[in-house]
Amino acid sequence: MLIHCKHDINRLFFIFIGFWLTAFFLSCSGTGDKGPVKIGFSQAMTTDDWRKQMNKSMQLEASLHDDVALTVLDARDDVEKQISDIESLIRNGTDIIIVSPIQSRPLTAVVEKSVKAGIPVIVIDRKIGNESYTAYIGADNIEVGRNAGRYIASVVPHHEGKIRIVEIKGLKGSSPAYERSLGFSQIVNRFEKLEIVAAIDGDWESGSVKAPLRDVLKQEKKIDYIFCHNDRMALSAWEVARENGIENSIKFIGVDGLNTENGGIQLVQEGVLQATIFYPTGGNEAIKLALRILKKDPVPKNHLLNTTVIDAVNADIMKNQLDKIDRQQASIEHQLQKLSEQEEKYATQANLIKILTFFLVLILALAIYGIYSTYIISKKKKLLELQSQKITLQQDKIRKITGEEFRTRLDTIITQHIDNPGFTVEELAQKLNLSRVQLYRKIKAMSGASVNEYISGIRLEKSREMLRDTSLNIAEIAYACGFSSPNYFSTSFKNKYGITPKEYKSNT
Ligand code: FRU
Repeated sequence: MLIHCKHDINRLFFIFIGFWLTAFFLSCSGTGDKGPVKIGFSQAMTTDDWRKQMNKSMQLEASLHDDVALTVLDARDDVEKQISDIESLIRNGTDIIIVSPIQSRPLTAVVEKSVKAGIPVIVIDRKIGNESYTAYIGADNIEVGRNAGRYIASVVPHHEGKIRIVEIKGLKGSSPAYERSLGFSQIVNRFEKLEIVAAIDGDWESGSVKAPLRDVLKQEKKIDYIFCHNDRMALSAWEVARENGIENSIKFIGVDGLNTENGGIQLVQEGVLQATIFYPTGGNEAIKLALRILKKDPVPKNHLLNTTVIDAVNADIMKNQLDKIDRQQASIEHQLQKLSEQEEKYATQANLIKILTFFLVLILALAIYGIYSTYIISKKKKLLELQSQKITLQQDKIRKITGEEFRTRLDTIITQHIDNPGFTVEELAQKLNLSRVQLYRKIKAMSGASVNEYISGIRLEKSREMLRDTSLNIAEIAYACGFSSPNYFSTSFKNKYGITPKEYKSNT
């Protein structure tokens, strides 16, 4: 019963430890968490500062939310790669995808595929061929073009004769190139004085500008303005003009207005550019928008960011403002860095505490188990002691019984032969089915006497009885009790009882 109970307790103990270990390791591995929100961003390329800023502001915004995991894939200006990047984001269970498409048409199908698969898509800066995306975020590129147009048109009243313009466009097939050109021509067309004398299809990069512009300059001797779809290309155009010594007679207008080394603001401050149209990257806004969409908040389909003209009048103010923002960003980054260091420290400490708790509970459990086992063992020991006491008692009883039986048989046999002085130890042993040695040991253990002493004890006892109870004389009693002579009887009697048989008889 006790043993059964002990087995049950053992089993319970190990089940407890098993459960506890599983719970402990599950809590360590953090299973059961829903996991972070997965945002995938397919960036067109990351070679220029504008794209780098976009990525940075996205990453900064994402790191402000500890439940957001942002993956940025760089398509390296390769449309095929961008399609396969988006495919992989779809496959990898991304919650929402942000895409800045290299070109509109080739990216349309994969965006549609994602939306159909239930993964919302935000297109940023550049659009796709239709409106199947979930939301667009970026400045209004038609407005960017119009701003450039309006800026040139503002000089119309003071300008004599035609204002001759060269337009250097962004990559054909990318929506900002199309829209900037559209907005620009909408304004140009309103003024008779404004004339686009040449248009160059660039690809957003400075390398695409130089050769075609040199060709244009060979044809067009008088150019008043060059409108470039971004500042990088505008700087390149200015360099070509300088090669010809005409950089001061042409006014250059760009787009982007970055506050970086050789960025639009610096170029305006240095007088390289007449103006740049500020084109925000929208990186942080895109992450905020993504989180709103995932929260199922209603959002406008087209999320338009502000754009403005930066020229000599406001370049310093803009720079100050943007410097301030940069400093704030740097401080946020610094704080985030510190925070993540603290988090790491905390995580290590938390793990240490977990491990300590693990061992404490284990030690406690083992201690309880140890105490319990000691208790059970001592209980069992007591039980065994009791049982062994019982057994000893029973053995004693048995020994007593068998000892008494033996004494009765022994005494009976001796009494039967009491009158025979020749009755030997061998005969007695034989009658008791014992060897001489066995007989000797038994009698010694029982009475402390040797066999002969024991026999003579019985003889003397019998003689005393007869002296007391019969009228036989001393000699008769001596022979009846197996003494070889009355003298020997008297001596033996006196030795044992301290008086002679004669004296004993006369006293009774
Ligand atoms: C950066 C860039 C910007 C431009 C934008 C248009 O890669 O070329 O200079 O404004 O892309 O998508």
